[in-house]
Amino acid sequence: MEKSELSSHFDVIIVGAGWSGLLACKYCLSEGLKTLVLESRDSIGGIWAYSNDQTLGGVMKSTETMSSRCITEISDFPMPITYPDFPSHQQILAYLKLYCANFHLEEHIRLGCNVIKVKKIGTMWEITCEDGSAYLANSVVVCSGVHRYPNDVSRHQRFSQYTGKILHSAAIKEISADYAGKTVIIWGGGESASDIALEASRVAVRVYWCIPNGQWFAPKVVGGWPPFPSSRRKVADHISSRLRLILSPTHRYSPFISQYFEYTFGVNGHGQEAWRTEAPYSRSFLNKSRNVLSRLKSGHVIPKRDLHHCEGDTVFFTDGSCAKAEFIITCSGYRASFPFFEEPTILAADPRTWYKHIFYNDDPTLALVGFARPVFGSIPGISELQSRYISLVLAGKRYLPPPNQRARIIDKDVAFWNHHFRYTSLRLGGLVDHFRYCDELATLIGCRPRLWKLLFSSPRKWWKAISSPWNGCQFWLNDESQHERVFQTLDSYRDNQMSEVYIFLLLAPALPLIGLYSYVRILLKEHLFHKNTRPAHPRNTGWRSAKHAPNVVRPAKANPAGARVAETRPIGPVV
Ligand SMILES: Cc1cc2nc3c(=O)[nH]c(=O)nc-3n(C[C@H](O)[C@H](O)[C@H](O)COP(=O)(O)OP(=O)(O)OC[C@H]3O[C@@H](n4cnc5c(N)ncnc54)[C@H](O)[C@@H]3O)c2cc1C
Ligand SMILES: NC(=O)c1ccc[n+]([C@@H]2O[C@H](COP(=O)([O-])OP(=O)(O)OC[C@H]3O[C@@H](n4cnc5c(N)ncnc54)[C@H](OP(=O)(O)O)[C@@H]3O)[C@@H](O)[C@H]2O)c1
Repeated sequence: MEKSELSSHFDVIIVGAGWSGLLACKYCLSEGLKTLVLESRDSIGGIWAYSNDQTLGGVMKSTETMSSRCITEISDFPMPITYPDFPSHQQILAYLKLYCANFHLEEHIRLGCNVIKVKKIGTMWEITCEDGSAYLANSVVVCSGVHRYPNDVSRHQRFSQYTGKILHSAAIKEISADYAGKTVIIWGGGESASDIALEASRVAVRVYWCIPNGQWFAPKVVGGWPPFPSSRRKVADHISSRLRLILSPTHRYSPFISQYFEYTFGVNGHGQEAWRTEAPYSRSFLNKSRNVLSRLKSGHVIPKRDLHHCEGDTVFFTDGSCAKAEFIITCSGYRASFPFFEEPTILAADPRTWYKHIFYNDDPTLALVGFARPVFGSIPGISELQSRYISLVLAGKRYLPPPNQRARIIDKDVAFWNHHFRYTSLRLGGLVDHFRYCDELATLIGCRPRLWKLLFSSPRKWWKAISSPWNGCQFWLNDESQHERVFQTLDSYRDNQMSEVYIFLLLAPALPLIGLYSYVRILLKEHLFHKNTRPAHPRNTGWRSAKHAPNVVRPAKANPAGARVAETRPIGPVV
């Protein structure tokens, strides 16, 4: 595209050519909108385009997806059949490049264009890049990524007296030989922490892993679902069929699964008291990177709750023990930030306070895609529906409710999600239940599958639709002309059918009861025993009003006096 052409006026300008930006671009183009994507890096793909640059974050050399290809892939562009259930980051980047080529997106993307200012002048948006180029657009779609700016906790008082090296997980691309023979503290309970702890445990002499708020773990794959017949390993996120969601009216997830995880793997799916969380299954983020747990059994990784304070290179844990450590790696996640906006309210924006986690404030010409994060599911799956919705709104085919009504809906949604995730720190503003949120978006788009209609027109198709794992292609079911490709995709993921039949025939009456049992247990705990289960730490973004703010929370338990020195028997590096 020529520079003169780029400097002209666009219907939509998209900031960022990661997975979300590409989806937004494709759907805006398909609505006939003149679209331009501005990307600061020299590649598309966002976090999936590996870089040695430690300031960029993104994938490590060894990263593969945590969400399965079924739940992650683009609805009208399935991943190549040669791909494994959990593709590597190189495969994902190659897939996104294929997507661009297939839908001719390259000609609408400008690489090496770092957006530094986005400003509304009258009814138009002016977008300025670092190289001095400027563009005008009717609408702006921000797809700059929810995992770009590290949530830096290194200045927290627990770490303030530490004299060793302290790094954020975003700077870790691999655990190099520099860590050999060293002691490493990993702090945080997400998947970055899991991946780094696993690698560190193979090189370092000892790894202590602190999860201050506790954590649920779920496997990516299981050998089979006893007592169901199984011939090959099962992908855990394939338990997401509508059938299972329907059968679980109290929790909107298959209650049997949480009981199964706790029975098989111990409390919260990991069996470590130090990492216990009171949050019910699926009501806080689920860590799917479980391989590291075998390193706990072998003693290479030692579970701890939290770090109380540091003195020099000695860290004091809240259980009263201490250890000398050369490195602390804070895997404390990321925070949404938009430095290119001048308005301070947007700089510290909270996705909960945008209409359906997408439209900011009272301005329907500013949308943000990719900032909702599921406890279980995939960000790209959500971004696709968000992109479909915004493209229709920007093309004038769907209308947002009037401002007053929108504000009421936002307040209701904030209250709902804060209540739904009340057992968490509420740090993640965009945390949602993937299945519920996607259905809400589908309703707004008008593509929520009409399953009753399908049942009467074709019971066989209906059964396939409700018993297949979640895949974005289900949101094309209302259009019969798409059925051939939709059912082709669903057929490729129907490896778990016997268990679906068993569930339907044998367990259906029991599942809601198990769900109800969990629900009553929580209710009694909260209301009869008044157990405060919210974990500790302040959230870091602005709230619309005080009524939505999380309660003040209990501080971490500490016993610094008389701290015991932790086990010092070295465990040799393992190849
Ligand atoms: C290590 C890791 C593994 C992950 N694994 C999974 C997984 O298995 N499944 C899953 O669902 N999610 C996973 N995620 C979440 C991941 O964020 C999403 O999968 C997805 O990549 C989000 O895409 P995005 O386009 O919203 O954001 P990003 O991939 O972050 O892309 C944002 C793009 O915007 C560009 N940009 C930002 N600011 C500007 C600016 N000012 N000007 C121009 N361009 C700008 C960036 O350069 C980048 O290219 C993972 C995240 C990490 C960090
Ligand atoms: N292989 C993969 O596919 C892979 C690998 C890495 C990451 N990822 C993805 O990348 C994203 C980011 O993962 P992440 O692990 O970097 O971040 P994360 O999931 O946000 O986890 C951050 C952890 O730090 C804790 N934390 C943060 N601030 C805290 C505070 N002030 N006090 C106490 N605890 C605090 C959090 O606890 P609370 O939650 O209780 O606040 C949480 O345990 C996720 O979407 C993840 O799925 C995927």
